[in-house]
Amino acid sequence: SRRGFLIGMAGAAAGAATTAAVTAGLGAAAPAAAAAHAAGTAARYEFHGAHQAGVLAPVRRSTSLLALDVTAQGAAGLTELLQTITDTARFLTTGGAPRELGITAPPSDSGVLGPEVTAGGLTVTLAVGASLFDGRFGLASVKPSKLRPMEDFPNDALDRAICDGDLLLQFEADDNDVVIHGVREVLRATRAGMQLRWRRDGFSSPPRPSGTPRNLMGFKDGTANIDRTDAKLMDQLVWAHGGQAEPAWVEGGSYLAVRVIRMLVEFWDRVGIEEQQQMFGRYKGSGAPLTGSSEFEDPHYERDPNGDSIPLSAHIRVANPRTPGTENQRMLRRAFNYDGGIDANGNLDQGLIFTAFNQDIERQFVTVQKRLIDEPLVDYISPVGGGYYFALPGARDASDWLGKGMFA
Ligand code: HEM
Repeated sequence: SRRGFLIGMAGAAAGAATTAAVTAGLGAAAPAAAAAHAAGTAARYEFHGAHQAGVLAPVRRSTSLLALDVTAQGAAGLTELLQTITDTARFLTTGGAPRELGITAPPSDSGVLGPEVTAGGLTVTLAVGASLFDGRFGLASVKPSKLRPMEDFPNDALDRAICDGDLLLQFEADDNDVVIHGVREVLRATRAGMQLRWRRDGFSSPPRPSGTPRNLMGFKDGTANIDRTDAKLMDQLVWAHGGQAEPAWVEGGSYLAVRVIRMLVEFWDRVGIEEQQQMFGRYKGSGAPLTGSSEFEDPHYERDPNGDSIPLSAHIRVANPRTPGTENQRMLRRAFNYDGGIDANGNLDQGLIFTAFNQDIERQFVTVQKRLIDEPLVDYISPVGGGYYFALPGARDASDWLGKGMFA
């Protein structure tokens, strides 16, 4: 009803305050989102900007990653597809309410959410894969320089059916139904232009009991991440810059590494806690480094040169040795858990959807991944899919669309 809709709009106004908080300082976003949720409204992330909102936004509870191949024909077909994705994402992430000018009531067929007007903390992030630049769309000369299909690393068990793709769409929201609604609406609007290639859904857990959410090995995951509120650091480690090494249009975008990493959880659950902690270099309970006692303190490698406390082979020490010259290898990690049921042998199919944003995927993700090849953890994990993508720069305003710069 009209009245119900107006109440919905009051919620949207509250959401706008959250948007301001999110835009002003991402550090404030998590509590703001929690408060908004408790009040029955949902957080809203500003769609327009130099960057796509989903890159720096905090990890929300629910995600779906969809890799797609473009079936639209030529540059004109791809342009129309990207415009439609942008328009639909803009509409959904603003709660489906104020569409450009004028206000539209929620459609009577508003997907799986019924008549509710909600942004639900949704972000829709669009990234492109190397195959988009293969010549079908006349884009070969503007490919981000480091973009390529994902290689097999030693110990990988990649199923090529769940690797790569022309496009990657990541939906992320506070609740599963909002994610599914977003997925369905975007696919409905674009059916003629793209075909699903693979999909993986993930979730993030509440803090237990506090601090950073845990992965399915029971360890807090994300503790030592880079500070996404530090704009200068993001310029050095996350955002790609147009210039000599890259085409101009990449400015404000970011290389995205996705790794679907199965965890051999039955095997892991038979390992004692001491040995588990040695593998990561952190305490399972608190998440503190084994040289300390609180989650967010730095590991003290200088006091532990031989690895008596934190083994030299521990995951955190290999991934980020904190030695001069390795600072620029750091990346923005955004990990999700997944639970895919059981495999053909009756084993649990669970693991981590590892995603990381990089200014330069070779200098950061690939360098670190190569160092991790021999870590003890490799016996308990099995990377099965993923890919390298380039998250497009943001859409600046209502007339802009994701990927427009590629056609300039
Ligand atoms: C840190 C788990 C894969 C890079 C951590 C931590 C855990 C963890 C528990 C410590 C807490 C934290 O700072 O987040 C896992 C698991 C993985 C996995 C279970 C696979 C299933 C990867 C991959 C990479 C990576 C593929 C990159 C190639 C890092 C980095 C850190 C880290 C850079 C931070 C180290 C530091 O700065 O101290 N990971 N990780 N991880 N991981 Fe992973």
